[in-house]
Amino acid sequence: MRTKLVAGNWKMNGSLASNAHLLSALTSGAVASFNAKLAVCVPYPYLSQANLALAGTTIALGAQDVSEHEKGAFTGEVSAAMLMDFGCRYVLVGHSERRSFYGDTDAVVAAKFDAACKAGLVPILCVGESLAEREAGTTLQVVTRQLDAVLAKSGVAALAAAVVAYEPVWAIGTGLTATPAQAQEVHAQIRARIATESIEIAANVQILYGGSMKPSNAAELLCQSDIDGGLIGGAALVAEDFLAIAKAA
Ligand code: 13P
Repeated sequence: MRTKLVAGNWKMNGSLASNAHLLSALTSGAVASFNAKLAVCVPYPYLSQANLALAGTTIALGAQDVSEHEKGAFTGEVSAAMLMDFGCRYVLVGHSERRSFYGDTDAVVAAKFDAACKAGLVPILCVGESLAEREAGTTLQVVTRQLDAVLAKSGVAALAAAVVAYEPVWAIGTGLTATPAQAQEVHAQIRARIATESIEIAANVQILYGGSMKPSNAAELLCQSDIDGGLIGGAALVAEDFLAIAKAA
């Protein structure tokens, strides 16, 4: 039985004041009694604040990106070891906004995934197709290509200590959500692809759904057999909504 994981991706939102409010509302929710594990992926400058606020709670901390390099002359980058220093357990890699706005190719994403694993972080590998790709019927090819880049670089064993998130690009921040059946179909295909390399790892890997998940649609998505949690954007900024989604898991 896979434990469910509900992770918030705050994206580039927040301030010291608003984070304090949100973190305090999250930590005072009865999260320890939920079936799902919770995590929040916050902007780099707020890692320290969130690390302190979450200390002693069951809510894990994550970052939204990581450098593929270990250290050195890479101005503006943040290494996996630095994220470990600030108490991170998770890091997003290959979010569609990184892929589309910042040029993260499949190879870069695979290198970031590898760097995260080597440092002891749990990468949350984001995959997903654009609307044009879905309409062209290439969803499976796109998602498989994104996954295969990581499998080729790190090997299937690395997925035993990683999480996959299926986020159809057309559903992110648009209010459009994949139907439970559409999401389940892709999740099952991701698991089947991993099973061609290791049935055991495929059976255990958590595959999250992301894309306009909210309290009103969370339960029907989260009860699908291959959906093991959510990666939540907008609704993760509202404590009440994030907690309601986690409770539904
Ligand atoms: P929304 O929940 O705002 O659609 O964002 C999803 C997402 O991109 C999470 O990483």
